[in-house]
Amino acid sequence: MTDTSTPQSAKTWSARFSEPVSDLVKRYTASVGFDQRMALQDIRGSLAHARMLASCSIISREDLADIERGMATIRDEIERGVFAWNLDDEDVHLNIEKRLTALVGDAGKRLHTGRSRNDQVATDIRLWLRDAIDGILGLIGDFQRNLLDLAERHADTAMPGFTHLQVAQPVTFGHHLMAYYEMTRRDAERFVDVRRRANRLPLGSAALAGTSYPIDRQFVARELGFDGLCANSLDAVSDRDFAIEFCAASALLMTHLSRLSEELILWMSPRVGFIDLADRFCTGSSIMPQKKNPDVPELVRGKTGRVNGSLMALLTLMKGQPLAYNKDNQEDKEPLFDTADTVTDTLRIYADMITGITVKADAMRGALSQGYATATDLADYLVKKGAPFRDAHEVVARAVRAAEGSGRDLPQFSLAELREFSHLIGEDVFEVLTVEGSLASRNHAGGTAPAQVRSAIALARRDLGANQA
Ligand code: ARG
Repeated sequence: MTDTSTPQSAKTWSARFSEPVSDLVKRYTASVGFDQRMALQDIRGSLAHARMLASCSIISREDLADIERGMATIRDEIERGVFAWNLDDEDVHLNIEKRLTALVGDAGKRLHTGRSRNDQVATDIRLWLRDAIDGILGLIGDFQRNLLDLAERHADTAMPGFTHLQVAQPVTFGHHLMAYYEMTRRDAERFVDVRRRANRLPLGSAALAGTSYPIDRQFVARELGFDGLCANSLDAVSDRDFAIEFCAASALLMTHLSRLSEELILWMSPRVGFIDLADRFCTGSSIMPQKKNPDVPELVRGKTGRVNGSLMALLTLMKGQPLAYNKDNQEDKEPLFDTADTVTDTLRIYADMITGITVKADAMRGALSQGYATATDLADYLVKKGAPFRDAHEVVARAVRAAEGSGRDLPQFSLAELREFSHLIGEDVFEVLTVEGSLASRNHAGGTAPAQVRSAIALARRDLGANQA
């Protein structure tokens, strides 16, 4: 089909304007440099819209055929990297529409019937984000599977658990790692939740008030796999809360990975020496030949700031906007894309990094002999023998002070020496003063006993398997 009307001028809305924008304004207002990432989503959305228009007899079957043919060409050009993106056409939507019209004529100009870029862009972002979330959920699963493998190998490996970075009580390394499984499990739930709320169709809202054409929004929602419709046209074109929620979920995930990174960095310091990290995640120093620096975990920690920044950017972007669409919203994309990219790369690298951790069980064990890690166990022992807890606490505090003075750990005292602190102490005290005794005694759901850690891992594997299915 050929173009029969007057030629389209340089700008879509030119007839209304008496002077062109300057190059600077053009560059300032254009988004095509970054929103072309949504090109395939834009085409998908346009095809669904065109099919609906034809099914509702708003455009002809021939127009639809032309649009489908033109869009196939455009998709191919984009995929081959030969599509000529043009700053004059401002954004991904106008670039594609313009090219479509060049390819198929009037049918291309009919595509925008009953639609606005406002509901178009809102639809594109939701489609794009849905795919990004699916990718992230898969990567969280990869990370978790590798984490579970490591935790399982170390379900019995004893290490000090810390509070205030002071030795607190013995825990197993497996238990410690499973804390991060729990954090990322909640992260995954949050992403699922964001996806659920984002998966509603804005199209049909047009610029802000809806459209006078006899459209069928359910048709479009079905075509695009949306769970339902955005119920209010003003809300649909203007709010970006789903993008904010995504960045919030991302900020939390990054915060969790940042905490783990901080631990890896600490554990890898020669002063601690609990782990080693595979060389492929570290770099050397240009001046100090002995150095092996944990760059990857440090960058994860650093990039968390960047994701937090994007969350702040989007919250701030939204807070002053009156209904309905404002151009401010064009600024939603870069923080959103950058967040998705950062989270995706971080998870990808982290899943592999977990497999590159060498655990130095002896060093972990050695650290348990400093810091009186079983002092609480001794207090609990006294309570079980009849002492009130506060008195037991006091007895053990005195014992620890004496141990410190003589440069020993609690299990190194003889029975006779221990009995000087309390006559309630008997031969069986050594069962609780040992690390193994301490670990095994915390044998309840959520506790650090190796048996509990193993069942937590088994449960996690079952959940992960179910999620995959
Ligand atoms: N590029 C725009 C954006 O990202 C598309 C919507 C433009 N709508 C408008 N009325 N100017 O938000």
